[in-house]
Amino acid sequence: MGYKVAVVGATGNVGREMLNILAERQFPVDELAALASRRSLGTECSFGDKTVKTQDLDTFDFTGWDIALFAIGSDATKIYAPKAAKAGCVVIDNSSLYRYDPDIPLVVPEVNPEAVDRYAKKMIIANPNCSTAQMVVALKPLHDRAKIKRVVVSTYQSVSGTGKDAIDELWNQTKGMYVPGQEVAPSVYPKQIAFNVIPHIDVFMEDGSTKEEWKMVAETKKIVDPSIKVTATCVRVPVFVGHSEAINIEFEEFIDEDEVRDILREAPGILVVDKREAGGYVTPVECVGDYATFISRIRQDSTIENGINLWCVSDNLRKGAALNAVQIAETLGRRVLKKG
Ligand SMILES: NC(=O)c1ccc[n+]([C@@H]2O[C@H](COP(=O)([O-])OP(=O)(O)OC[C@H]3O[C@@H](n4cnc5c(N)ncnc54)[C@H](OP(=O)(O)O)[C@@H]3O)[C@@H](O)[C@H]2O)c1
Repeated sequence: MGYKVAVVGATGNVGREMLNILAERQFPVDELAALASRRSLGTECSFGDKTVKTQDLDTFDFTGWDIALFAIGSDATKIYAPKAAKAGCVVIDNSSLYRYDPDIPLVVPEVNPEAVDRYAKKMIIANPNCSTAQMVVALKPLHDRAKIKRVVVSTYQSVSGTGKDAIDELWNQTKGMYVPGQEVAPSVYPKQIAFNVIPHIDVFMEDGSTKEEWKMVAETKKIVDPSIKVTATCVRVPVFVGHSEAINIEFEEFIDEDEVRDILREAPGILVVDKREAGGYVTPVECVGDYATFISRIRQDSTIENGINLWCVSDNLRKGAALNAVQIAETLGRRVLKKG
């Protein structure tokens, strides 16, 4: 007795990873539906060693389905997630639409698994932003030991965080740089992304920050602790997959860099790779396809009383989206639904 699971947005970057991860982790799936727009009707998607044909989300009936993993962007989610929830199917959503609704839990299973229990009010559980997910996995065990006062984070985010079109833009623009007459003008991004970095992700807010930066602040507060102050600068870099973050943490009490290393080594979801030599740290290309959030470059910040600096890298399509969503489904199954 397993679950009837729908993957919504199965032809997208995140949806494809959801299918891979459900199969890899042997999630107890009795029946699987791969859903996307009518454009993709009949497209074959891999699910372990099987293939499934994509169905049209618009005409799909969620009645009798247990869990729907959504990865289709906020506009379409607004139309279809309430339909699924109304039909009694628990929605685990990757868009930002429901993250800040106080009646909807925002969950990173290593950090606040108990929040899943509040799913029933709206039958929806939200998945955080990719850059927040990997950061809070690292912050939580340290916060439990020495209470974090303030976090200063700069991100280096890959183009797969934007979607399929952005991956194509980086690829084609990079090739176009070498072939006269085949230059590719920016269209997904406001400036050239090949061989460049862009300090702008999502829309600008009134105070000059961007929505991506605001999300990291609001989501860290909702998932870990509202008292933590966060300031973020989010930057898009010409990397296909894998987000990196330089994180400066100020604690209420002193914590030694060796103790930070020991705590993170024991923490769920984290792999510490921290040798003070060339190559003794993780870069985005090494994290692709992995489940872990990698931590490197752990060191004391001597410019403040209780400060630590570290480098944090993770596969944004996995921990930042698909893996976290499947882990939420596993947590929901274990704590509440109890099938499988
Ligand atoms: N990429 C990341 O790192 C990341 C991290 C966290 C959260 N997210 C969120 O996850 C969602 C998907 O991101 P992605 O990177 O996978 O995007 P993507 O590669 O562009 O894929 C989008 C998917 O949504 C489907 N879709 C779009 N509009 C639809 C509609 N009206 N009806 C049915 N299906 C529709 C597409 O189907 P067709 O192929 O048929 O068009 C496709 O399967 C977004 O909300 C994004 O913000 C992404």
